[in-house]
Amino acid sequence: MLIAGNWKMNLKYDDILKFRDIVNDFKIDNRVEMAIFPQFPLLYYAKEYLSNCNIEIGAQTCSSELNGAYTGDVSVEIISDIGCKYCIIGHSERREFHNETNSFIKKASTLVLSKNIIPIICVGESEEIKNKKDTNQFIRNQIRKCVPDNINSDLVIAYEPLWAIGTGIIPSYEEIFNVHTNIIDELSYIENLKVIYGGSVNSENCAKIFELNTVHGALIGGSSLKFKDFLAIYKSAVKQL
Ligand code: PGA
Repeated sequence: MLIAGNWKMNLKYDDILKFRDIVNDFKIDNRVEMAIFPQFPLLYYAKEYLSNCNIEIGAQTCSSELNGAYTGDVSVEIISDIGCKYCIIGHSERREFHNETNSFIKKASTLVLSKNIIPIICVGESEEIKNKKDTNQFIRNQIRKCVPDNINSDLVIAYEPLWAIGTGIIPSYEEIFNVHTNIIDELSYIENLKVIYGGSVNSENCAKIFELNTVHGALIGGSSLKFKDFLAIYKSAVKQL
């Protein structure tokens, strides 16, 4: 299982220190990985201060180019030098505000994999698609367009329905189970595939989500900023094993 905290554009340097102080006394179970995704300038500190606590670090996006005249972008080479294990690609906020298209996601994921970093590719339907009952077809299509060719192991897909992100609303547990089953089926050729759920996961709804055997963890936004809640979610994942 993977419990991933997407800090988005929140928290500062001091918070890395606060988080370290809290997790110093926290027991990480080696069957459930914990990873955090702070803003780029904090990645180095996060790696330095948290790797002793067995916490993995990841980036929230990266360029689809390796280097060059791309002002403001961040290369996977830097993300790799810092020692990140993961990189989120195609989060819905990146798709919406920064034009991360399916083809960008495929190209960036291919680059990320070439540096031995595991991409966390985000997929998810809008409310309109959900209401039309087109979710499974839409997700399959996103996956076909985003997942790199020739990949045969080590991939994380985060299923994040757009209408569930930051809203406090989650799909029914049956819906989560079904979409995850669909994703696992589509990507059955990939070894070590994890399909994690994201969108309004909190310390109250997480236990029921983790009970679903097609859920391999969670991508957590808002609740990852409250460290107590984040650790409670982690503990709940351990309990399900
Ligand atoms: P949320 O965000 O947990 O605040 O809904 C999840 C995400 O955007 O990854």
